[in-house]
This record gives sequence, structure tokens and C-alpha cells, in this order.
Amino acid sequence: MSNATQHLEGPVGRRTRSCATELVCRDCGYRTPLLDQAFKCPACGEGLDIDYDYDRAKEVIAEHGLADRPWSVWRFEELLPITAADAQDRVAQFAGMTPLIKADRLGAELGLKNLYLKDDSTNRPSLSYKDRVVGMAIARLLELGKDEVGCVSTGNVGTAVAALAAKAGARAYVFYPGNMEKGKAKACRALGAQVCQLDGNYDQANRACRELSLASGIEFANITLRPFYAEGAKTVAFEVVEELGWKSPDHFVIPAAGGTLSSRVHKGLNELEMVGLAETSGTKINIAQASGCNPIATAILEGGELEPQSPDTAVHSLAIGAPGDGPLVIDAVRSRGGSAGTVTDVEVFEAIDLLGATEGILTEPAGGTTIASLGQLAAQGKIAPEETVVAIISGNGLKTIQDHPDKAWPEMVACNLESMSEQLEDFRRTAATVG
Ligand SMILES: Cc1ncc(COP(=O)(O)O)c(C=O)c1O
Ligand SMILES: [Zn+2]
Repeated sequence: MSNATQHLEGPVGRRTRSCATELVCRDCGYRTPLLDQAFKCPACGEGLDIDYDYDRAKEVIAEHGLADRPWSVWRFEELLPITAADAQDRVAQFAGMTPLIKADRLGAELGLKNLYLKDDSTNRPSLSYKDRVVGMAIARLLELGKDEVGCVSTGNVGTAVAALAAKAGARAYVFYPGNMEKGKAKACRALGAQVCQLDGNYDQANRACRELSLASGIEFANITLRPFYAEGAKTVAFEVVEELGWKSPDHFVIPAAGGTLSSRVHKGLNELEMVGLAETSGTKINIAQASGCNPIATAILEGGELEPQSPDTAVHSLAIGAPGDGPLVIDAVRSRGGSAGTVTDVEVFEAIDLLGATEGILTEPAGGTTIASLGQLAAQGKIAPEETVVAIISGNGLKTIQDHPDKAWPEMVACNLESMSEQLEDFRRTAATVG
């Protein structure tokens, strides 16, 4: 049987236009049918990835015009891994297609004339980029006919799993490491998920969850469903290039934790070229990490292999010291000629305020890491003033505002014209000095 038809051995019922063919080991080339529930290569232990019949995808994409396509992560379903239409129809119908915003006021501060922000802090349903990846995982869960799902999370995977599982009618179990962000944990519970806080950091929690998923048979969105989960991140690349009129930017700046988003933007850009939608080889990928957890950035900047770290940063959502997709990110950055930013927690919170005050977007520390790194890369001349750059704002600050450092609290002012006029004069003086 040819690659082109192998995926038709999938679930019965109405089919999507997915041109996914098989699971393939990214290291040794081992291949197995799409319906195999393996997530690691049995031959060498590496992660499995989804392969596609790109010639077929090119034809199918050409047959279906843009006007007929949904305004969601499923827009280019030919390049996504779900084959059962009834599963796809029930998940993430409103995820993705977030705005690409020309950021002239922030650009002026950073010396960049063609700066855009991909605002995934408005992603639905849970206000982070994770709605894209978890959307694929939950669709896969339904494709397998299952209704229970776990996840291990630095923060946002949990809220995405809770929300998307609730809508799909699946039970959700969210495992957070110790010192979890309370706002996100509370949100998960309000969304109907069970939450467990583990006495360990993310990397320890990840290993334990892997054992639990194998022992219990419960699928974990970002462990056993990972090959499918990761595919959702490519949709950022598809959308940005379409939003720029099928012209790929000179640079992406992407926050990295496990490395899924940055490595799959790379894959998505390659695929756009393979199916003839855009020329993308000139696009560089730069990643952003906090200096208290920067294993991928260190390898990129110092030129070595990835060395695991013990995270120590207020940027909880990026605190992964042993990133599973780290080697893929390093390859992506090296092959495209990008770089990395690594910034302190103080710089992260200053950048959150700068983004807020210039563009009216309230992001969480992951977004602050991206903007601070963008400023660093521009100041170092790694991004030139005229180049087109897209920075991904991957999470929403409303979820974490309680964790942002306190500022002096406004004093109580008498409720009369004289006192309020004095206060207003004060505000004006302060606004004039900060510009
Ligand atoms: C808001 C936000 N941005 C970016 C990332 C980075 O994700 P990745 O693991 O794909 O590198 C995360 C991961 O948890 C996140 O929560
Ligand atoms: Zn292998």
C-alpha cells in the first residue's frame, strides 16, 4: 500500500482532508501506521513525529480555495494529523486565527520599523498558544474513542486541557509541579478539571506522569498524545505567513520551554514551501528564554549540546530544564541562522509593562521574556531595523497579574475637586517624565 492511502486505514466514518500518512521516528526512520498508539520509537527511544504525503497535500490544498476554509486551527487540515471528521468537528472550533498586529509604538521603542505581534494571548478557549496543541491532542483522544485525559503542565497546558476537554465531554486530570501558579490552577478547577500539585519540579513531574500514564492507560495530552499535540503548533507559521500576504517574515522571536512551538514553527514553514504556498527558507527563528532557565538558549549562544538545568525563575510557564524538543529547536535555529535571547526576571517584568504601555496588550511572563529578548536581539544588531519581525505573544497577563511584582499601591484621595485636581497634576507630571 502506498503512503498516500495508508492513512485511510484509520477510524471509520467521515474523513477529513488530512494528508497525514504515518508516524515516523525523527532519528532512525522507523515508521508505523497512524493509528498505532506509540509515541516513542520502539527501536531507538526517540520521539515520533507525523509524516504527510506532501504531493497529495499540494493538490488537495489547490483544489480548495481560501474562502471555503474554516477560521480556526483547522484551516489547513491537509497538514494536520486528525483523520476522523467527527472528532475534529468537536474540538477547538474557535482556536487559532489570532490577530497579527503591526506594533509601531513598541517598534519605535526598540528601533524596529516592521515589527508585528502574533497575539496568541487572545487564543480561545484558554488565552494561550496551548489551545492549538491541546486542540490536536483532544481531537486525537476522541479519534481513539477515549474520554479521559491527563497532562503535566507548567501552567497553560493545564488550562487548555481543562477547557478543551470540558467542551469535548472528556474528564481532565491536570498535574502541576510544586510552586504552581495559583490563578491557573484555580482556573482549571473552575473549568471542571481535577488538579494535583506534585512535590517536584516540572522535569520530575514529567517523568512521574509518563510512568502514571503507562501504568493507568490514561492518555496524557503532552506525553502519549505528543506527536499529535506538537502538530498544532505549526498553525502559527501557517497563519502568520498568510496574514502577511504569503510573505514569510525575516525573523520570528518565539518563547521556548519544551521547545514545541519553536521547532514546529520551523516544520510549518518548511511545509508551506513543500506545498507551494510560500517561499520560507529566508526566515530565521530566534528563541527567548529566561536566564534562570535557558538550556536551549545557552546551547545556541555557546555552540554546544543541550545541558539540562534546574530552573530558578519567576517565568513559571517556561521553566523546563530538560526540554524534550530542545535538540529540534537547536537544529531549527542553526539551520535557519537565527539566535537566542536570554533575559533576567527583572527585564521580563519591565518588558511586560513596556508592551502594555505601547501596544495595550497585557501578557504573562512568557510574553515578557519574548519582548525583552526581542529588544536584546535588536540592540545586538541580530535583527536589523528594516527587517520584518514577528514576535509571538503566547500567553495572557490576566492569568498571572497576581504574580507580577507589586508596585506602590495608590493612596486614598479625598473625593473632592481640590484633592482630585492635585492628583491629576501629579499624574500629568509623572506621565511627562516617563514619556
Ligand atoms: C505562554 C507560553 N508560551 C510559550 C511556551 C513555550 O512552549 P514550548 O514548550 O512549546 O516551548 C509555554 C509553555 O508552557 C507557555 O505556557
Ligand atoms: Zn527510532
